[in-house]
Amino acid sequence: MLTESDRKAVRQSFRLVVPIADTAADLFYRRLFELRPGYRELFKDDIAAQKRKLLRMLAFIVRALDYKDTEWRDDVPPEQDLMLVVLALGRRHAELYRIPNESYSVVGEALLWTLDYGLGEAFTQDVRAAWTRLYTLLAQTMRLGSTAMDREAALQSAQQAQRQGEEALLVQLAEAGIDEVRLGVEEPS
Ligand code: HEM
Repeated sequence: MLTESDRKAVRQSFRLVVPIADTAADLFYRRLFELRPGYRELFKDDIAAQKRKLLRMLAFIVRALDYKDTEWRDDVPPEQDLMLVVLALGRRHAELYRIPNESYSVVGEALLWTLDYGLGEAFTQDVRAAWTRLYTLLAQTMRLGSTAMDREAALQSAQQAQRQGEEALLVQLAEAGIDEVRLGVEEPS
């Protein structure tokens, strides 16, 4: 569950990351490939492009804080359904980038390590907890998308999870109050 203060902590710490984004990206990949050298081959050789992707990923995570509650529900048009956007992102990771599902935990670990190293004292226990919760929510949703066969199946799978309360995924997202905050986080350039 994301609290109001979690969202504030993520937003504020992300603003501190933006000026050191280039260094943070270097640190993240160095740490990730230190932890799992085999993952190097999942990424293309262009390191500059990789850095941009990491920043997109971070920006994506932070932007997820802005999602309206209704945008996570299943009664909106598909193009406005951000649940589907995250499911589709998960599906691309599985089918196009061929990442193993278990890589979510080590990527999360490398991400937290990078934030810790980059932010120093600003990376308090509260900030760590907030990023952990947010990353976990997204990773859970993306993993769900990776198991779906197609867009329709992804939606049905999400609806089924909601109906049966399995992992109560949609409920968790709604309870997280992801719609409540307007953070106004700027995209990194
Ligand atoms: C919350 C978790 C994650 C988020 C939000 C995220 C986000 C993104 C985004 C926005 C892209 C750009 C391409 C696209 O939109 O399809 C991307 C690409 C990619 N991500 Fe992730 N990602 C996450 C987790 C992971 C994990 C666990 C791995 C495992 C190593 C991974 C590996 C990759 C790779 C290999 C690419 C494509 C690189 C290429 O084109 O060479 N990501 N990710």
